[in-house]
Amino acid sequence: MRLYSRLVPALGLVFLTGTSATTKVDLSQYVNPLIGSEGPEAGSGFGGGDIFVGGARPFGVAKVGIDSTAANWSTAVLNGGWTPDGNVTGISMMHESGTGGSPKYGLISQMPLTSVDAPVNVLDNTTYSQPRIGDDIARVGYYKTQLKSGVTVELSASRHAGIMEYSFPTGEKHVLIDVSHYLPGSPGDANGQFFAGGEIQIEDDGKAYSGYGTYIGGWNNGAPFTVYFWGEFSETPDNAQTFSGANTDPMPRYHSFSNGGVSQPIYGNKTNKVTSGPMNNRISVLMSWNNGPASHVASRVGISSISVERARSFIEKEIPSWKLNDTVADSVKEWNEDVFQKIQVPLDDSANMTHVRLLYSSLYFIHLMPSDRTGENPLWDSGEPFWDDFYTMWDIFRCTVSFYHIFQPEYYESMIRSLIDIWKHDGYMPDGRSGNWNGLVQGGSDADNVLADAYVKGLRGAINWTEGYLAMKKDAEVTPYNTFDPTDLTASTKEGRGALDDWKALGYVSQDHNTRCISRTVEYSLNDFAVSQVAAGEMPEDREKYLNRSAGWQNIWDASVTSLNFTGFLAPRLSNGEFNSSEYDPLYCYDCEWSSYTYEGIPWEYSFVIPHDCKTLIELMGGSERFESRLDMMFKPNMSVQNLGANGAGITTLMNIGNEPDFATPYLYNYINKQAKSVERSRSLANQYFKDAPYGVPGNSDAGAMNSWLLWQMLGIYPIVTQPVYLIASPWFPDLNMTINGNKTLRISATGLDEGYYVQSVKVNGKQWTKNWVEHDDVMTNGGHIEFELGQDATAWESGEVPPSPGHVQLK
Ligand SMILES: *[C@@H]1O[C@H](CO)[C@@H](O)[C@H](O)[C@H]1NC(C)=O
Ligand SMILES: *[C@@H]1O[C@H](CO)[C@@H](O)[C@H](O)[C@H]1NC(C)=O
Ligand SMILES: *[C@@H]1O[C@H](CO)[C@@H](O)[C@H](O)[C@H]1NC(C)=O
Ligand SMILES: *[C@@H]1O[C@H](CO)[C@@H](O)[C@H](O)[C@H]1NC(C)=O
Ligand SMILES: *[C@@H]1O[C@H](CO)[C@@H](O)[C@H](O)[C@H]1NC(C)=O
Ligand SMILES: *[C@@H]1O[C@H](CO)[C@@H](O)[C@H](O)[C@H]1NC(C)=O
Ligand SMILES: *[C@@H]1O[C@H](CO)[C@@H](O)[C@H](O)[C@H]1NC(C)=O
Ligand SMILES: *[C@@H]1O[C@H](CO)[C@@H](O)[C@H](O)[C@H]1NC(C)=O
Ligand SMILES: *[C@@H]1O[C@H](CO)[C@@H](O)[C@H](O)[C@H]1NC(C)=O
Ligand SMILES: *[C@@H]1O[C@H](CO)[C@@H](O)[C@H](O)[C@H]1NC(C)=O
Ligand SMILES: *[C@@H]1O[C@H](CO)[C@@H](O)[C@H](O)[C@H]1NC(C)=O
Ligand SMILES: *[C@@H]1O[C@H](CO)[C@@H](O)[C@H](O)[C@H]1NC(C)=O
Repeated sequence: MRLYSRLVPALGLVFLTGTSATTKVDLSQYVNPLIGSEGPEAGSGFGGGDIFVGGARPFGVAKVGIDSTAANWSTAVLNGGWTPDGNVTGISMMHESGTGGSPKYGLISQMPLTSVDAPVNVLDNTTYSQPRIGDDIARVGYYKTQLKSGVTVELSASRHAGIMEYSFPTGEKHVLIDVSHYLPGSPGDANGQFFAGGEIQIEDDGKAYSGYGTYIGGWNNGAPFTVYFWGEFSETPDNAQTFSGANTDPMPRYHSFSNGGVSQPIYGNKTNKVTSGPMNNRISVLMSWNNGPASHVASRVGISSISVERARSFIEKEIPSWKLNDTVADSVKEWNEDVFQKIQVPLDDSANMTHVRLLYSSLYFIHLMPSDRTGENPLWDSGEPFWDDFYTMWDIFRCTVSFYHIFQPEYYESMIRSLIDIWKHDGYMPDGRSGNWNGLVQGGSDADNVLADAYVKGLRGAINWTEGYLAMKKDAEVTPYNTFDPTDLTASTKEGRGALDDWKALGYVSQDHNTRCISRTVEYSLNDFAVSQVAAGEMPEDREKYLNRSAGWQNIWDASVTSLNFTGFLAPRLSNGEFNSSEYDPLYCYDCEWSSYTYEGIPWEYSFVIPHDCKTLIELMGGSERFESRLDMMFKPNMSVQNLGANGAGITTLMNIGNEPDFATPYLYNYINKQAKSVERSRSLANQYFKDAPYGVPGNSDAGAMNSWLLWQMLGIYPIVTQPVYLIASPWFPDLNMTINGNKTLRISATGLDEGYYVQSVKVNGKQWTKNWVEHDDVMTNGGHIEFELGQDATAWESGEVPPSPGHVQLK
């Protein structure tokens, strides 16, 4: 099936500002919501972005879209619900976007059916799931698909509710509401998601229904959490019945299909309520309209983590109209005002529209997660904002949150208050979080990096930094209890730093005590630098301790390891202090997973991930020239020997832009005043791997982390996390105005783009600039203007001091 987003202006938008009426361009038309919808093989999601496709608002709770089946479980990626090749099993209210691991959500569903007679079993999706015909249409706030049964589905979303419109052909018309529907993991998946019970009640003679469902598991191994719902139809059904059936879903160690297959429904009485009861039975409602001519049925559904009443109130507040396109118009307006209009670039004939589409599409994808659940906290009542669906700090700390900082300062302050409030009530800040539950931790406690980044750039507002610092200190000092997650039985994967025992005692993570000894040593080093950055203002007496600890990575620097003619690498070290050189080769991580030396990257890559102390790194690597040739080696084709599977994106260099650890690596030439090479490397990665196409991101979008990397690349600057520093690269647009920090303007303009993308000279706020970096205060706090002169020659234009290494500590 070919899929595309129809790039047509949906609505002529007219904004009234004061007395003068100005017509603004509907920038949402440039968003391609299908970037990342496929992998390298057209028509398959495998190796793709795992993105959500459907109706959503910026950071909204409801993400309304289809759920689909796996065409082949060994290459299945149901994570966003939508797949290019699966059959539709339902239209549901909650989704993640861009995640790997096991699917989570796909909850509170409806499924339009044109027959419920045998062989259809309404408890068995394989008997009613529907292939799609024709092309799906996806636009900001609008999605449309046509099922083989002849039913057309259109949908849109508000922040906590959704609206669907079903166009039925002549004949029977039913909508199945299966509370026990969810996105499943592959067979036998230890982290799969399951239904754990609920209730559904028919209201108003079938014009509405209400209830709740409880779900467990999914990618972050979440505890059971409950979603309340209220749904209603535009037309009263002629028949409404509840039913239930034994829960035969193949939850590891419990139910299994081999126990006798999917159960048959036992129908309840009209207007009945049905409850899962003691054995967590599956529960549903079937609404039916009389056999007759073709007709439309619309439905509005609200969800809440607090109550049915709140779920219902969201419909009243957010989707007052039964006209689907009213919600679409409202959605487009919100996206334009809250997101797209904050960046202006020329749209005239000279504009490269591919670049324009990449710009606005990337903005769209970084606003799908996390979810702002403020007012919807079922766990405690603190009056603080409440956020969920952080996937994960490990992915977004490197450059996504720095974008939120300047672009969405109010949302961002709210996110940070929520992180701190979660520490206050749950014990730890999350690394990942979903379904009101912390997990999973892939490396360090990377919320520390997020808080430090915000702190050093001056974000204060209503954040209580005394508490923020205590939350960070907890990560640095208290080992979390072991969650015995089957993916790694050795320590907690839920929160905190599982290998803190080693870190505190030895100053590194040892190979014999802990998994991921190299990558966790690297990450804990930056985490402790982050702690020292906030300590400097909040608890000055702690600063030096954590600064010292941030040099821990040097403890696993083995000067005797050689690879590809380079000497000195991070290496596995045992708890007795000896390096373990047995079978060690920094070109390999083995499977780059939870039990490897390094997670989602090889030791070669992690050796460059020391943003707080590049100075020592360059010294340990043998000085500027050796550092440069080692960086060059990262970009040499056909050097990769590690098979990265679906994470590899066909990349043959050691540098792998498909995973986050290398995000800053192409820019590191700035640290030796060879900025032209940073431009060359980062630009060619962007051109090669980021496209206005279904296979448009190199692997999972990771909640927009990939898209945010591209955004910085297009702006022509790159943030160094935990420091108020941006490296200068090369912009893609001749002129760009971005509303930052509330109502300030960052302007980035460039001449000479048609000649080439190398920097010839730079001015900052009108002054000639000789450094290849700027500070937050130079252009972000009160706005500012960076003027580039670009051209075709790789010129050594910079002569100033290199970017700082504020974590400079020399252990050796
Ligand atoms: C289909 O339904 C079965 C039975 O409830 C369930 O185990 C399975 O996960 C569902 N498959 C999909 C793709 O939703
Ligand atoms: C989708 O449905 C069609 C027709 O019912 C069926 O032939 C096909 O196997 C199904 N595909 C998947 C991936 O479930
Ligand atoms: C499923 O995918 C795997 C991995 O690509 C492949 O080996 C297998 O042949 C596929 N199975 C089917 C039935 O297509
Ligand atoms: C339906 O109602 C009848 C009469 O009230 C009752 O006997 C029967 O058990 C009910 N059936 C179910 C499935 O609840
Ligand atoms: C909504 O608007 C689109 C055009 O943008 C149109 O194709 C569609 O039919 C409308 N849907 C409904 C339910 O009115
Ligand atoms: C950016 O703002 C400046 C100053 O207001 C203006 O002259 C310029 O046209 C704007 N550029 C764009 C692309 O909107
Ligand atoms: C627009 O940008 C793309 C991607 O960088 C490039 O391939 C294309 O040639 C450009 N188009 C024009 C008209 O310059
Ligand atoms: C910040 O938190 C600390 C520790 O909980 C508390 O003592 C202090 O009153 C808080 N400050 C503000 C302004 O709320
Ligand atoms: C040293 O590393 C090798 C290769 O990873 C491993 O098999 C061995 O167990 C390690 N030695 C110790 C003492 O942990
Ligand atoms: C930090 O390290 C330096 C040099 O080893 C040492 O002199 C100092 O006491 C350490 N500070 C703390 C607080 O541990
Ligand atoms: C390492 O150096 C040797 C000797 O100069 C050379 O033959 C070899 O090609 C080099 N290896 C790499 C990977 O550059
Ligand atoms: C915009 O700037 C003015 C001062 O120029 C300030 O008073 C106001 O609060 C700002 N608004 C926002 C939303 O930041």
